[in-house]
Amino acid sequence: MKNDIKKVSVSAEQIEEMLIRLGNQITNDYKNQEPLFIGLLKGCNPFMVDLLKHIDLYCTVAYMDVSSYAGTKSTGNVRINHDLDTNVEDKDIIVIDDILDTGRTLNAVVQLLKARGAKSVKLCVLLDKPEGRVAPIEADYVGGLVPNEFVVGYGLDYNEKYRNLPYIGVLKEEVYSK
Ligand code: PRP
Repeated sequence: MKNDIKKVSVSAEQIEEMLIRLGNQITNDYKNQEPLFIGLLKGCNPFMVDLLKHIDLYCTVAYMDVSSYAGTKSTGNVRINHDLDTNVEDKDIIVIDDILDTGRTLNAVVQLLKARGAKSVKLCVLLDKPEGRVAPIEADYVGGLVPNEFVVGYGLDYNEKYRNLPYIGVLKEEVYSK
């Protein structure tokens, strides 16, 4: 699998530094609250699991399974495959995802959570690809920026594969043409 990677965009060591920084920021910002972390499957995993280890707060976790991509293309249709099993009314929510690209996914999720009565909704993403943005949304907590190229690893997939890479990388062109 690792032979399919053309270059490493964010190393495992850089990811660890991002986790520590984000964990400290969130711990500090929410010190008097008990936030509900909502992870968007499947891409939030392993970022969410690793980030939570760096957060020193009483908190709860929940997951939603949403998807909007086919291959490397955002379809624009955000589909809820599995909904939350938790009431979000009056909750301080931090939505966790691997990447903010067009913003369509997170924008749709934020609207939904607000419509369901969430008290506050903030966004935490490992990666932000600002050049890709279509929907009017920004993240409150960002690990790092990536240029407008398709990246995989550490939760991010290409046709459901490469999520288990321990770093973020760019695929060789020949992988797309297989
Ligand atoms: C990916 C990623 C984000 C979303 C970001 O999910 O995990 O949720 O796309 O893209 P956007 O900003 O352009 O909406 P995907 O739909 O591929 O599902 P997955 O999490 O199961 O991989």
